[in-house]
Amino acid sequence: MKIGIACDHAGFEYKEKLKKLLSSKGNEINDYGCYSLESVDYPDFAHKLAESIENNDNELGIQFCGTGNGINMSANKHQRIRAALCWNIHIAEQARLHNNANILTMPARHLEWQEVEKIVDTFLNTDFEGGRHENRVNKISCC
Ligand code: RB5
Repeated sequence: MKIGIACDHAGFEYKEKLKKLLSSKGNEINDYGCYSLESVDYPDFAHKLAESIENNDNELGIQFCGTGNGINMSANKHQRIRAALCWNIHIAEQARLHNNANILTMPARHLEWQEVEKIVDTFLNTDFEGGRHENRVNKISCC
């Protein structure tokens, strides 16, 4: 699978670990930064990742910031992005099943690495259910 990843400084370490893990499983990973622990502005990276999904350069995206909120809000400014802030496997599963989320956002400062691994695995291996959820998802964009 082609997967885009992004983060700010708070999510840098998890983004690096995830890049190695997903590459080792045969995925093609496109990394939109950041590239060090130096303090940066999360929207700069969220917008690059979001654009890559809108342009079909990646099938799905995964991103981190400290709480997940800032980078999630930034990605969701894009019309064709449905970024879901997930902090457990149940929310990640529903984000795919019901919301057809195309970006998984996680709060790096509030999750253990083992939780990140499980959330990512659930998100990447769950398909959109469609049906009644299709109408709802189609109504998300308002302007
Ligand atoms: C960075 O200190 C922090 O504000 C950022 O990672 C994120 O939590 C913002 O929503």
